Amino acid sequence: MSSSGIKSRDAFATTLGAFTATVGSAIGLGNIWKFPYLTGSNGGAAFVLAYLLCVALVGIPIMIAEHVIGRRTRQNAVQAYETVIPRQRGWSAIGWGGLVAAVLIMAFYTDVAGWVFAYVFKSLRAFVVGTTLGQGDFAALAGGTWEPLAWQLGVLALACFIIASGVSKGIERATKTLMPLLFVLLLICDVRALSLPGASAGVSYLFRPDLAKLTAPVLLAALGLAFFKLSLGMGTMTTYGSYLPEATRIFPNAARVAVADTVVSLLAGLAIFPAVFAFGGTPAGGPGLLFNTIPLVFAKMPAGGLFTTLFFILTAVATIGAMVSLIEVPVAWLTEKRRLSRPVAAIVTGAGMFALGALATLSQSPVLSGVKIFGKSFFDLFDFLSSNLLLPLGGLAIAVVAGWLLARTDFQAELDKGFAARPWHTKLMSAFVKFVAPVLILVILLDSLGILRLS
Ligand code: PFF
Repeated sequence: MSSSGIKSRDAFATTLGAFTATVGSAIGLGNIWKFPYLTGSNGGAAFVLAYLLCVALVGIPIMIAEHVIGRRTRQNAVQAYETVIPRQRGWSAIGWGGLVAAVLIMAFYTDVAGWVFAYVFKSLRAFVVGTTLGQGDFAALAGGTWEPLAWQLGVLALACFIIASGVSKGIERATKTLMPLLFVLLLICDVRALSLPGASAGVSYLFRPDLAKLTAPVLLAALGLAFFKLSLGMGTMTTYGSYLPEATRIFPNAARVAVADTVVSLLAGLAIFPAVFAFGGTPAGGPGLLFNTIPLVFAKMPAGGLFTTLFFILTAVATIGAMVSLIEVPVAWLTEKRRLSRPVAAIVTGAGMFALGALATLSQSPVLSGVKIFGKSFFDLFDFLSSNLLLPLGGLAIAVVAGWLLARTDFQAELDKGFAARPWHTKLMSAFVKFVAPVLILVILLDSLGILRLS
């Protein structure tokens, strides 16, 4: 439990490196694919409002709690929760739940990441031959059998290769340079989309909430997205916390990550919804929304095809940082507890993820499209179980450990690190971790189960 433990483990070299890697885990398909499509299928601005509240009131406190526990223990997520409270080893269930969640998320994440990589090539080809990608192209890709499977396997192999090369080298290098580029490209998309005739309807859709739409399923979806977006409730941020330098200030770091992440989501929304309305599409376009909209945003613009390709290249890069952090959860455990080498751990993890991932991918092709469990396809089931159930439950347990069981002085000591004197926010954040975040998670979960009626 001492900080000397870090010497024998790989770690982020600097506070800036830790920030960019954390942002690299947070920013990914969640911003560019999931945020817009969930906003579209949950009625627009009311969902956005619920989401922003969940990030501020639940997301930031849980990220703080995970970073505190990670840095205090300097261990992988399973062992961190096993040892953080003396004689209460049962909390390691949080780490185990996290391992399950990581594999479930990767199962559908790699499917979508595969579509993104495929679109890099498809959009380039369309540019060269002078056409635009349409809805039929996406349907053919996602509904295929071998093509999406091959892309999925390819992206998994790439992410496992980066993981095998080590934490600071692999993750920091891959994410540090390319995130700013993604940001700039999103801005270009926004300018383009907002200058389309009829774009203002999309802006209202995103920012004018109709509070009647705040139903229990919408609140649960917003909470689940906040966890998914910020990579919370499953030990990823605990693991990253275990690599944090001692000098990193936990609250400001977490707040900056949440703000950067939210800005990217809103920029993605501003690129997509104005275009959806301008082209007479439907916001509730489901998982294909991104793929069907972006080529249209750039169509008819000079070199529009090239911009489309660039957009998908940068999105592909963003998926890598997130996937790497998801694979890191089981890999950290396999290397530290099971003593596997990093390359072997990465291969074992990747193989397990592909086995389940193939089910998610094939559930959209005729091979498995008829199979429904609790009325959901494998793809939707893995998403629902991880984002809307495991992550919020994990977050609740993490809040209990950090807010109620960890000695107050220990918790505050971690939050004070990096400051010369105790900062104003230490006590406030303690209260958020102890009361606000767990109560909200509990209320939303009970509401969505029908046990409590808010609406
Ligand atoms: N935060 C990532 C995204 O929004 O794309 C997804 C993710 C990464 C979720 C890592 C969970 C995680 F542990």
